[in-house]
Amino acid sequence: MTVAVAGPPEAAPVPRPSTFVLKQVMAITGVIFVGYVFVHMIGNLKVFFGADSFNSYAHWLREIGYPLIPHRGVLWALRVVLVVSVVAHVWSALVLWVRGRRARGAHRRRRMPRLMASGARLMLPSGLLILVFVGVHLLDLTIGALVAPETFRSGDAYQNLVASFSRLWMAVFYSATMVFIAAHITHGWWTMLQDLGATGRRFRMVWITIGVMIALTILLGNALIPVLVQLGVIA
Ligand code: HEM
Repeated sequence: MTVAVAGPPEAAPVPRPSTFVLKQVMAITGVIFVGYVFVHMIGNLKVFFGADSFNSYAHWLREIGYPLIPHRGVLWALRVVLVVSVVAHVWSALVLWVRGRRARGAHRRRRMPRLMASGARLMLPSGLLILVFVGVHLLDLTIGALVAPETFRSGDAYQNLVASFSRLWMAVFYSATMVFIAAHITHGWWTMLQDLGATGRRFRMVWITIGVMIALTILLGNALIPVLVQLGVIA
């Protein structure tokens, strides 16, 4: 009599790229983007020192490293890094989201603190809003297609900024988007901690505090500018 022996259960194929790799991509590209937004916010604060200070900063951005590096060389390198980072970040996020939904099926994640659950739900819509914001922002202040063409002056970043934020809807759009960017950064920072698997209480506290501080600084530093233009303090 032959006895049928069941072989070892077949392992489910590991999806490529693995979830681990996708999370690493999200963390690295997210940190690059937050780093850019933070440094950009510090540059934006030059607006408080007047038109000359802000315009010479915008000019310097185009000339970093010149004459060793061609005009706008560093700026273009930065643009390429940012575009690659955004594409990789969004693509990884979508693949992970689809995988998460398939794995969960009809079940919902439970026992997540309410604040974290709301943060998680906000990630996709706030991420999409950030993409729309960057598009509007480039059309508005870099290309000048949204500021009325007669008010846009190439090379006068200060005057373009004031002209743009003098419109109430644009000021509200900028300030509101900063709230969502801050929420996105805070939750993304917290997610990185989970993925690192860090359990030390002190480390977790320090990490979360740093994330919240970065998000709040970006929020306040940036959102204040359209508000002060509306109040006539920056003119
Ligand atoms: C109130 C907040 C902000 C202000 C006042 C501001 C101001 C500016 C200005 C004036 C420029 C154009 C510089 C020039 O071409 O002369 C610029 C470019 C840019 N900003 Fe912002 N910005 C703000 C927030 C942000 C945020 C939150 C992001 C990202 C999510 C961002 C991403 C960019 C990018 C990608 C460029 C184009 C850089 C380039 O390729 O030339 N900005 N910003």
